Amino acid sequence: MALRHRLLALLSFSLLAGAASSTATLDGIYALAKRRVPTHAHSFSFSLSSGDPDSFVISDVPLGIHINCTTVSACARGFYTYLTQFGGTDIWWTGSRLTHLPIHLPRVGSPVKGQAIVPYRYHFNTVTFSYTTPFWNFDQWELELDWLALRGVNLPLAWNGYEYILAETFREAGLTDNEITSFLSGPAFQAWNRFGNIQGSWDGDLPAAWNHDQFKLQKQIVQRMKELGMTPVLPSFSGFVPRAMSSHYPNASIINGSQWSGFPSELTRVSFLEPVDPLFARLQNSFISKQREAYGDVSHIYTLDQYNENDPFSGDPAYLANVTAGTFASLRDADPDAVWLMQGWLFFSDSAFWTDARIEAYLGGVPGNDSMIILDLYSEAQPQWNRTSSYYGKQWVWCELHGYGGNIGMEGNLDAITQGPITALNAPGSSMKGMGLTMEGQEGNELVYNTLLDQAWSSKPLDTATYVDKWVSRRYPKSPLPKAAHEAWRVLSTTVYNNKDPNTQATIKGIFELAPALTGLTGRGGHHPTSIPYDTNTTVLLAAKYLLEAHRQNPQLASIPEFGYDVVDVTRQFLSNRFIDRYTALVAAYNATSATADSVTAAGAPLLQLLSDIDALLATNEHFLLSAWIQDAKRWARGKTDRDTYARYLEYNARNQISLWGPDGEINDYASKAWAGVVRTYYRPRWAAFVEYLADTKRNGTAYNAKAVQATMLAIGQEWSNGTWGTGEGEVWGTVGDTFEVASRLVGKWA
Ligand SMILES: *[C@@H]1O[C@H](CO)[C@@H](O)[C@H](O)[C@H]1NC(C)=O
Ligand SMILES: *[C@@H]1O[C@H](CO)[C@@H](O)[C@H](O)[C@H]1NC(C)=O
Ligand SMILES: *[C@@H]1O[C@H](CO)[C@@H](O)[C@H](O)[C@H]1NC(C)=O
Ligand SMILES: *[C@@H]1O[C@H](CO)[C@@H](O)[C@H](O)[C@H]1NC(C)=O
Ligand SMILES: *[C@@H]1O[C@H](CO)[C@@H](O)[C@H](O)[C@H]1NC(C)=O
Ligand SMILES: *[C@@H]1O[C@H](CO)[C@@H](O)[C@H](O)[C@H]1NC(C)=O
Ligand SMILES: *[C@@H]1O[C@H](CO)[C@@H](O)[C@H](O)[C@H]1NC(C)=O
Ligand SMILES: *[C@@H]1O[C@H](CO)[C@@H](O)[C@H](O)[C@H]1NC(C)=O
Ligand SMILES: *[C@@H]1O[C@H](CO)[C@@H](O)[C@H](O)[C@H]1NC(C)=O
Ligand SMILES: *[C@@H]1O[C@H](CO)[C@@H](O)[C@H](O)[C@H]1NC(C)=O
Repeated sequence: MALRHRLLALLSFSLLAGAASSTATLDGIYALAKRRVPTHAHSFSFSLSSGDPDSFVISDVPLGIHINCTTVSACARGFYTYLTQFGGTDIWWTGSRLTHLPIHLPRVGSPVKGQAIVPYRYHFNTVTFSYTTPFWNFDQWELELDWLALRGVNLPLAWNGYEYILAETFREAGLTDNEITSFLSGPAFQAWNRFGNIQGSWDGDLPAAWNHDQFKLQKQIVQRMKELGMTPVLPSFSGFVPRAMSSHYPNASIINGSQWSGFPSELTRVSFLEPVDPLFARLQNSFISKQREAYGDVSHIYTLDQYNENDPFSGDPAYLANVTAGTFASLRDADPDAVWLMQGWLFFSDSAFWTDARIEAYLGGVPGNDSMIILDLYSEAQPQWNRTSSYYGKQWVWCELHGYGGNIGMEGNLDAITQGPITALNAPGSSMKGMGLTMEGQEGNELVYNTLLDQAWSSKPLDTATYVDKWVSRRYPKSPLPKAAHEAWRVLSTTVYNNKDPNTQATIKGIFELAPALTGLTGRGGHHPTSIPYDTNTTVLLAAKYLLEAHRQNPQLASIPEFGYDVVDVTRQFLSNRFIDRYTALVAAYNATSATADSVTAAGAPLLQLLSDIDALLATNEHFLLSAWIQDAKRWARGKTDRDTYARYLEYNARNQISLWGPDGEINDYASKAWAGVVRTYYRPRWAAFVEYLADTKRNGTAYNAKAVQATMLAIGQEWSNGTWGTGEGEVWGTVGDTFEVASRLVGKWA
């Protein structure tokens, strides 16, 4: 396997920036060291040399630590290996703690070697750019990119600013600003416009200022990615065009795509320029040359998805092969080294259409095996590589898919993500070339993400018990660290994070975030499971108690942001699961033959109290705040002439995505959030209206009317989407309350 891997790796390496070539420099790694460990930066030295692909050696030198590596990315990974394994510190989504290195740097003794087991370490999903990062500024990106680089990621997606270049391309093709703008979707919905699922906006046109700002941001992001040894996966022209393209090019072969998720026709059925049409190649050329001019010659890998939840015009294999052949020819025409990267979600989500024969034809339209990279998007639960003969020889990436809609819920399958990639890599005829994370929203469950990216540097499955123990010591670097802290994670990592239930292999969604109804909320499986695949009392409740016990034993733990975060997260999961019991009790009370308005109201009271409590808990931590999401969005209106209107527009985008998701609740609650503010001003009022409605039916002797309930919930959602944070009672911008006081009280109260 080692030899085979090396051969495959060598073939792929030429595509990636940062290989030990004359152009690679270590400036970005030295800058990273200065940025993250300023007081120790002078003690680290790095050198690039040839040798095994993506490998590093850490050794002691008289004045500190030396890292010798064969790629810039491997250097970052070698640096990270030292910082975590010897320095006992780490960088998290919640912040970098790398400055906490010991004053005297520990020696490594015998040199420590590391090597990636795959040439590509991938990160992002097209939709992460709408669920997690749409409103980020460069400071937020900087933390993310350092987090990625240090873990050895070398192939991140880079979507920002796409609309700026796309608009220029359409303008050059003769379209007017109005025709272009009416095609583009709002800042919180661009991912699905990019996928050709939706077009246009439902709350006013996308301001040109947005495109400008994102374009500027993208220049910084791409530059930084390059410095950190990554190859940004850049956008390309995928064929989706404004309706008006047909009037400018009446002979062009333009068809309408399918309707997406119940959206009204004017917002979906996106026009698609057939790749066999010569206009396609012309627009591709225009797009890619503008992009190259803007960002430089930084990448030859392009993300391009045409049928993500979008039906092809025909299922004829010859047609499908024509589509890919035309598309790929356009890419190669614009960039002779182009490699096409696509998300493989469609092969799972629409497996009825995507038969083996159609997939083979579709992929077969692209000549050669190194010309494509397919993200096997949901490898831990719904792998497709094994039914497609390893994508018929094309390169593919083993991906973990979490956080649908950026939902917040604890879930993971550590055995699957440690053993699965190794099995796939060693499978006969395997063309697997990478490992990565394709979460919809990058939220919570950081253990899972950390494990997968570390697995990419270990040819044997990681021993999860040892791994988790070390992870906890790094995450809570306090001495003495009470045993209870380790116990909490031993419990979680062997249950909640080792979930083998095939029906719930995805972030568990709290039912309190769903529009209230009498049926259909509990016990859901699939990729928005609401079924809880473990016993709450002996897992999350126990873990919450252990963490609080650890805090009592060493109150200094309170000063560790990750500890506070985890206490909130674990307690949140506990309360979220308890809500199911209260809801079940409410339904039982309502259905009882003896039910009265009063008995129903009484059964609803604890449920409403629990929601107030969940909000109070979340309000204690900066990472669980609606106000932060809104603040990040509105920040982009600063300094603009139409500041107030723009800020309103941005806030509407931010709110609508996480509530109605569409003008009229088309995918209502898909991107729901366990955030303080959402719970108090949206979920609780919905449940209060529900309880009141149920009581009313008993009072009036009327029957339950599911349609009437839905209409009420939609109206509440419309009003909430339209709201302005900071205008209602208690709508503050920061945190409120002490995490440990609130969590202890609530664990005691609801245990
Ligand atoms: C780095 O490794 C290469 C290959 O093993 C070796 O030739 C070179 O001397 C090393 N450089 C340093 C500075 O250790
Ligand atoms: C479209 O095709 C028709 C018939 O072949 C031709 O007469 C006409 O000039 C073409 N129009 C454009 C805009 O190319
Ligand atoms: C696409 O949809 C638009 C709007 O409904 C319609 O005007 C146009 O004729 C359709 N185009 C095709 C090729 O069906
Ligand atoms: C494939 O494209 C060619 C033109 O490039 C066309 O002549 C042929 O009819 C197409 N085949 C199908 C099945 O669409
Ligand atoms: C592929 O692997 C998954 C997960 O192990 C399994 O459920 C599925 O049946 C396999 N498919 C084929 C065609 O072997
Ligand atoms: C691509 O991979 C498949 C499967 O391993 C192989 O049969 C085919 O020959 C390869 N194609 C090329 C062009 O190398
Ligand atoms: C969990 O604890 C609660 C409260 O003590 C109790 O009502 C419930 O029955 C327990 N659940 C299980 C499955 O033991
Ligand atoms: C409660 O009653 C409704 C109809 O009124 C029914 O659909 C539902 O299944 C019942 N639920 C339970 C848990 O009995
Ligand atoms: C109950 O009756 C009141 C008064 O007639 C009415 O306003 C309300 O809509 C009714 N609600 C339900 C759920 O029947
Ligand atoms: C939302 O706000 C807009 C503008 O302020 C207003 O025209 C519209 O009626 C509001 N809609 C709802 C449902 O509140």
